[in-house]
Amino acid sequence: MGNSQMDRSPAMPLRLGILISGRGSNFLAIAESIRAGRLKSVEIAVVISNVPDAAGLERARELGIAAAVFDSRGRKRAEHDADVAGCLKEHRVDLICLAGYMRLLSPQFVAAFPNRILNIHPSLLPAFPGLEAQEQAFAYGVKVAGCTVHFVDEELDHGAIILQRAIPVLETDDPHSLTARILTEEHKAYSEAIAMVVSGEYEIRGRRFIKRAAFP
Ligand code: GAR
Repeated sequence: MGNSQMDRSPAMPLRLGILISGRGSNFLAIAESIRAGRLKSVEIAVVISNVPDAAGLERARELGIAAAVFDSRGRKRAEHDADVAGCLKEHRVDLICLAGYMRLLSPQFVAAFPNRILNIHPSLLPAFPGLEAQEQAFAYGVKVAGCTVHFVDEELDHGAIILQRAIPVLETDDPHSLTARILTEEHKAYSEAIAMVVSGEYEIRGRRFIKRAAFP
């Protein structure tokens, strides 16, 4: 992949591995895009959580999607990540989507899947990386907020940006309403970004993700 085809026959759906830590609404939005035919040539191979009681796991099981837990509490990062990587390989995952996965990945994990890990973050990066990005943006007083889907590299919320969706911050907003409106954008953005990456119709120049003319 990367510049940029995934190694698979065009007839085979590309297999996603989705990593979560909680609610899993971004995972469910991806699942719904696939079900509705908006996101084509893709299937969810497995959902993996580092938190045993993550609500998204139950949703995955209800949808008949394989779900696995690797509890990260008290574990060394590299060892935990090696278990997760093993599970992803068992499920023959082509592309990894972090969807509310609230744990930094080890350099070994990132190196094992070059340009094959995506993340969604609820701010217009590089503003407000890290935790509670929406609250950070609200408190800072920005007039425009949004979300970013990007490739994952070894730095937190840092890799090449695939797409961003922006919304105005309203006078009437509070952190709760702003978070909810950003989440609505996240649910659209992640499937759009996956479609772009799956198409292979892009190249990465420096930090710039550039769509080829062939992409609709
Ligand atoms: C989402 O807002 C996602 O952008 C954020 O966690 C939430 C997970 O919600 N991720 C980060 O802040 C990562 N830095 P979900 O479990 O309902 O998808």
